[in-house]
Amino acid sequence: MRAFQVGDNATWPAKIASTATALLGIRGAGKSNLARVMAEEAYASKIPVVIFDPVGNWYGIRAGKDGKPDGGLPFAIFGGRHGDVPLEAGSGQLIADTIVDTRLSCVIDMSHEDFSEGAKRRFLTVFVDRLFRRKQPETGWMLLILEEADDYAPQTAKGDMAACLGVFQKIVKRGRSRGLGVVLVTQRSAAINKDLLNMADTLVAFRTTASHDQKAVEGWIKYNSLSDAALASLSGLANGEAWVWSPHELGSFDRVRFRRMDTLDTGKTPDHLEGKLARPATLADVDVPALRERMADTIERAKAEDPKELRLQLAELKAELAKKPLMIRPGKVVEKPVLKDVQIKRLEALAVKMIAEAERHGKAIAMFWENQDEGWKAFLAALRAVANVPAPPPPRYPEKAFTTHGLHNSPLRPTNRPTNGDGTGQERMLAALAYWTRPLSRSELALLSIMSAGGGTFKTYLPQLLREGHVSVSDGLVSITEAGRKALSRPAEAVTFVSAAALQNRWRRELSAGGMKRIFDALVAAYPGWQTRTALGQASGMEATGGTFKTYFPKLARLGLVEVGRDGGVRARPELFLDLPPR
Ligand SMILES: Nc1ncnc2c1ncn2[C@@H]1O[C@H](COP(=O)(O)OP(=O)(O)OP(=O)(O)O)[C@@H](O)[C@H]1O
Ligand SMILES: [Mg+2]
Repeated sequence: MRAFQVGDNATWPAKIASTATALLGIRGAGKSNLARVMAEEAYASKIPVVIFDPVGNWYGIRAGKDGKPDGGLPFAIFGGRHGDVPLEAGSGQLIADTIVDTRLSCVIDMSHEDFSEGAKRRFLTVFVDRLFRRKQPETGWMLLILEEADDYAPQTAKGDMAACLGVFQKIVKRGRSRGLGVVLVTQRSAAINKDLLNMADTLVAFRTTASHDQKAVEGWIKYNSLSDAALASLSGLANGEAWVWSPHELGSFDRVRFRRMDTLDTGKTPDHLEGKLARPATLADVDVPALRERMADTIERAKAEDPKELRLQLAELKAELAKKPLMIRPGKVVEKPVLKDVQIKRLEALAVKMIAEAERHGKAIAMFWENQDEGWKAFLAALRAVANVPAPPPPRYPEKAFTTHGLHNSPLRPTNRPTNGDGTGQERMLAALAYWTRPLSRSELALLSIMSAGGGTFKTYLPQLLREGHVSVSDGLVSITEAGRKALSRPAEAVTFVSAAALQNRWRRELSAGGMKRIFDALVAAYPGWQTRTALGQASGMEATGGTFKTYFPKLARLGLVEVGRDGGVRARPELFLDLPPR
C-alpha cells in the first residue's frame, strides 16, 4: 500500500491508520494541519476516515486550497453550518452503521451551539462504541480523528464523561485488532487522560511551552523508556514542525517538518474567500425533491402500517431511484458524487435489514416504529447524502439533547396514573438495566433507580448485584446479565420509569423540603439551558447567597440531580429527561 507522504522528506507507512496517534502542541502549532494531511493521505490510500469536529473547521476538506471544488475530497458532512445533512443528537448508532457498511469518509461537525458539551459526549460515546463493535478487521483499515480530545478523554472523568473516556480507552487499546485507528488531537497535553496518552503508539509533539504540558510528553517518553534529549527543544519548534516518537510503529524518532494540507484551510480563511464560503462551493444541487417527499411520506405511513407494506414501497422507490437519472440543475456548482452506486445499494440493503429486524420483533413492532423516529430521520438524512439530494431547507438541530415529548418543561403535576419506581432498590436497578438496551453509567443507573450515586444505598447494592452475578461492569458501564433478567419477577416496564415526567415526579417526591422542590422545579423548567446560581436562586424565589439556597442546592447536587458546567453554570442532569429509550 502506498505510504503517507506527510512531509517533503517524510513518509509514514499507511498502517499508521490502524494504530493510535496523539498530536500534542500549543494553539496554532500545526496539529490540525497534520491531522488533515493524514486524512488526505488516508483517502488517497482508500482508507475511510471519520473526523469528529467540535469546532467546525473540517468542511474545508471538500474544497481545494483556493476554496474551489477542484481538489476537494468527497467526504460527506454531517451537521454544522456547511453540512450536507443535519445532525441529530440521537443518530450516533445509525451514522456509525452507515459508515461501517458503506466505508463512508465523513466529517461529523458538532460545532452548532445547540449541542451541549454533554450532548457531544453522549453522541461520541454511542457512536464510537458502535463503530468499535461493528468494525471487523476484514474490512480494512479505518481512521477516526478526534479534535479537542481532552474534552472527551480527560484525566479525571465522572458520569457520562467516564463512559466517553471508556470507549476511547477501548479503541486505543484494542482498535488495532479491528483495523480501527485513532488520532487524538489536543492543545492541552496536561489535561488529556494519561493512561490513554501513554498507550498511544505514536506521539507527535509540536511546539509545547508550558511546563505542565511538557510533563505530559515527558511522561509518555518515560513510559515508553525513551531518551528525553529532545524535550529541551520542544518550545522552540516552528509551526508545522514536531518531534515524532514511534518506537514500535514507525520504528523512528525524528524531527519532522510536515507538509501543508492540500485542501482548504478553513482554520485560517483568507478574507477574499469568506463570503463565498457561506455555502460550500462543492455542495451538489441535485434535483430529486419529489422523490424525497415521497420517501418522507412513505416513512410517515409506515409508522401506522405493516412494515411489509413499507418494504414493498421501499422496493418501488428503489426501482424508481435506479431508473431516474439524477437531474442536475443547470448553473449550479456540481460536485463529484459523494458515494458510488454500490455504496447506495448497501445503504438500501441496510434499510431492508432494519425492516426485517423490526418484523422479528413481532408484537413490539408498534413501539419499534414509534421509537425509531430519530433513527429514521438520521437514516433518511444519510440516504439523502448518498443520493446527493440537497440538504433539507432549514437545517434542523435538536432543541435538546434528548427527546422528551416536551413533557419536562411543563409544570410538574401529581399524576393519578400508577407511579413506577416503587420496587426495592435492587429491583429498580435491575429493571432500569433491563429496560435500557445499552449499558448505563453509574450515575445514570443511580438516577434512574432513585438513588444517589455517591450514597450508601447505591454503593451497597451495586457490589451486591455484582457478587450475585446479576450485573456486570465493563469500562465503567453497568449491564444486566441473563441471571439478572431472570431475577426480575415483574416486567421491567412495570418497575422502572418509561417517561421523563414520571421519573421527575418520583424524584420530586423524594425531596423532603419545599425549598429543595422549588430549586428542582426551577432546574427542570430551564433545561436544557444553563443558568448561574444567582439566576437559579431567583427562579426558585431565594437569594443565592442566603442560607436556604446554600443548604438545599448542595443537597440536590449530592443527590446527582445537578450538572455543573465548566464555567460554573448549572442545570438539571440530562438523565432526568431521558424518555422512552429505543428498544
Ligand atoms: N506544516 C506546516 N508548515 C507551515 N505552516 C504551518 C504548518 N502547519 C501549520 N502551519 C501554520 O500554522 C497555522 C496553524 O496551524 P493549525 O491550524 O494546524 O494549528 P493547531 O495546532 O491545530 O492549532 P489549534 O490548537 O488552535 O487548533 C496554520 O494556519 C499555518 O499557517
Ligand atoms: Mg486545530
